[in-house]
Amino acid sequence: MNYARDCIAKIDGYVPGEQPQGRTYVKLNTNENPYPPSPKVGEALRNFDWTRLRLYSEPSALMIRQAAADWFGLKPENIICGNGSDDLLTIALRTFVDQGGKLAFTEPSYSLYPVLADIQGANHAPVTLTDDFQLPDDAVEQAGDATLFILANPNAPTGTLLSKEKLCKIAEKFRGVLWIDEAYVDFSGQTCMDMVKKYPNVVVSRTMSKSFSLAGLRLGIAAAQELLIFEMFKVKDSYNVDMITQYLATAALRDVEYMQANAKRIITTREKTAAALRKLGCVVEPSATNFLFVKPPKDAETVFKQLKDNGFLVRYFKLPRVSEYIRITMGTEEDMDAFVKTFAELL
Ligand SMILES: Cc1ncc(COP(=O)(O)O)c(C=O)c1O
Repeated sequence: MNYARDCIAKIDGYVPGEQPQGRTYVKLNTNENPYPPSPKVGEALRNFDWTRLRLYSEPSALMIRQAAADWFGLKPENIICGNGSDDLLTIALRTFVDQGGKLAFTEPSYSLYPVLADIQGANHAPVTLTDDFQLPDDAVEQAGDATLFILANPNAPTGTLLSKEKLCKIAEKFRGVLWIDEAYVDFSGQTCMDMVKKYPNVVVSRTMSKSFSLAGLRLGIAAAQELLIFEMFKVKDSYNVDMITQYLATAALRDVEYMQANAKRIITTREKTAAALRKLGCVVEPSATNFLFVKPPKDAETVFKQLKDNGFLVRYFKLPRVSEYIRITMGTEEDMDAFVKTFAELL
């Protein structure tokens, strides 16, 4: 007897990238940052009064929302925080998509999006990216009567930066909420955050897991006009951001310069690694992120396994259109030099 709802029983669920516990790998599989977070985060952690943990956290995460609003040139009323941006995506589904309704999402993209639709008991409206992983001209038509359209910009796992001009056109034409997931934006040199002021149906989300080196802390931020935020607040758990996260994430947001310097280092490593892999005969998609999407000159799944045997963990997706690629997160410059050396030997 399976007591779960049908829509849960019939899906596999999302499978996150491996967090190995035994053997030590050069870990290039979940787009974490190889550098530590801002020293201001360490200072805030040391100064945190642990006895305060007997109290609930501030429900709206006001400290973080104020710091984020200052950074984005918005008001705290334009910001909602989540336990990672995955939490915000769940809140989005529950706020904007009915059971039996429809979620639009680009394909290929972050493979969590369709799983969230399944969990909600909603239908899929995949919007197929072009051969060079750009938005198709008929994206709005493909999204059809979906009430929420989620896309990642830059996209994952392809690393591609989508055309902002097309995104504005979608925002104008699409009748539902357009959610732009900017998880990797700090590695791209472009942002759609200003679209929030112009379009009442646009949400832009960020995460502190990548550029801010805080994947373990779990903090996501979404920005939109007040009405959208107001409605999402009704859906979120009362205390979805814990007290320690509120202090530490605020400290990180007050030291954006440190994050940006790290992002710059990673961009340099990315470009150097891309050039080296192209020399080895790989197709390397242009990347605006902290990872490379790479088609090796031999079977991708075999390369993935061989790299793992040699101590390098990358990501492989056995999914349509991406199964010939591996996704490689940028480590430190030394990590990537060692990676390229091993990769060359394997080929
Ligand atoms: C496109 C995209 N959005 C969101 C996330 C999730 O981020 P978080 O750690 O904030 O839940 C990821 C994580 O890999 C991602 O690739």
